[in-house]
Parts: sequence; C-alpha cells; structure tokens
Amino acid sequence: MKKRRRYIIAGNWKMNKTAAEAVELARGVAREWGNEAGVEVVLCPPFTALESVARTLEDSSVLLGAQNMYPADAGAYTGEVSAQMLRHFNVSHVILGHSERREYFAESDAFINEKVLAALGNDLIPILCVGETLEQREQGDTLGVVDAQVRGGLKQVTIEDAENLVIAYEPIWAIGTGKTATPQMAQEVHASIRGILADLFGSGPADTIRIQYGGSMKPGNAAELLSQPDIDGGLIGGASLEAQSFSGIVGAAAKAR
Ligand code: 13P
Repeated sequence: MKKRRRYIIAGNWKMNKTAAEAVELARGVAREWGNEAGVEVVLCPPFTALESVARTLEDSSVLLGAQNMYPADAGAYTGEVSAQMLRHFNVSHVILGHSERREYFAESDAFINEKVLAALGNDLIPILCVGETLEQREQGDTLGVVDAQVRGGLKQVTIEDAENLVIAYEPIWAIGTGKTATPQMAQEVHASIRGILADLFGSGPADTIRIQYGGSMKPGNAAELLSQPDIDGGLIGGASLEAQSFSGIVGAAAKAR
C-alpha cells in the first residue's frame, strides 16, 4: 500500500554509546541508508555524541535528532541544553516527552508543551511521545490518557507549525519488554491520535502529520506494523543499537512505501 506520508524511522539510543561507539554505529547506518530518499532516517544519540555523529552524517541523507532539550533560550539551568545548542550541531529533530522522562524526571504535559513550542520556534521537529501504562490499558483508559497527552503537549501549536510535528505512540508496557502492541491495537490508537490532530488543526494538516509506533519494534514485526494505515514509522530503542537490526527496520519501511 502506498501512503502519502513519508515513513520516518528514528533510533533512540537512550543512554547508550560513547562518542566513539556512536560514530561506528552511525557509519554503519549511513553506509546502508545514506542515500535512501524514500524513508526519513533519524539517529538520536546522547548529547555527548551529537557533535561526532553530526560530522559522520555530514554527506549522508541520514538526519540527526536529540533525545531532550530545555525550553529556555539560555541561562542558569545547570546540566541542560537549549534548542539553539542543538541546531548548532545540525540537529533537525528532538524527542520530547518520552515516557522515561515523564517517569524518572517527572515531566508534565505542561512542561513538555513548553519544550514543543520552543523546538518549533527554533526550527526543530519535535517527536512528541505519548503512551499508556499497562494498568491504564487494563482499565480501558488508553485513549483517554493519550488524548490528554496529545492535547496537553500541543497547546498553542499553530496550524502552520502543525505540519512540522511528529507524534510517537509508545505504549509503556511495550518499551524494552519484547511485548509489542498488535498492529490492530496500535492502529486503533494511531487512528484516534489522528482524529485528535484533525480536531486541533483540521483534517488537511492532520493527514500530513507522521505518527510513529514505538515499543519493541524489530525487523521481524516492523512490516506488519508499518502496513497499518495510520502507522507512519517507528521510534526504535533496543533494535537501533546495532546497525543490522536498525537497517532491517528501515528496509521494511522502504519496502512498505
Ligand atoms: P524499545 O524499542 O527498546 O522497546 O524502546 C522503544 C523506545 O522507547 C523508543 O523511544
């Protein structure tokens, strides 16, 4: 099936890889997919490897993403990094509101919303992550939880900026557990997210916004997930730490388009 939206496959390396290891991994991905026009491929190393990976990717079509940022332009925020600092390294995407940030660093929808607005204001594409816990799913709260996260994260985003958004649906119970949402389960939530986007921005913009799935995506299950009408890519954790498995997922997207 041919989708109007271009697939986006992003590797979230989380707190893994030294700068030297990151260069090696980025090289492996770029070797395989550095000239691929059909799929948007984004690598998100830790901050400490952004500069070296940026240099590695200079002549390739593989894009660079960060895993977080602080909403202020500059100032006394020890340990934080601004959008402009990321832009300086040719970063084009930034993961915001990942469930690990929400859980371990107590990030609220309001704070994540500040970051989304700051990212858009600095020409960075936010990858806004949303998703429910196992308990919330079992209680039948999935769509309500995701609705609140999407609306909370996107407050005051303009229709003009909407096309620069990427949303990642990551059911928390599927992250790093080997448990994947079935394609049908994921599609149901993706369709519901697209409905919220249509409500916020109109159906035209909503049709252009990519919605990634994340949570134990692997070469073996990627094709089936990506074949769903509202699944436009993947945000990959574990399987992105090795060039071969990440490439297998990009390959599935290249074939699915
Ligand atoms: P895994 O692919 O390891 O389940 O991680 C998903 C994720 O959290 C990507 O942001």
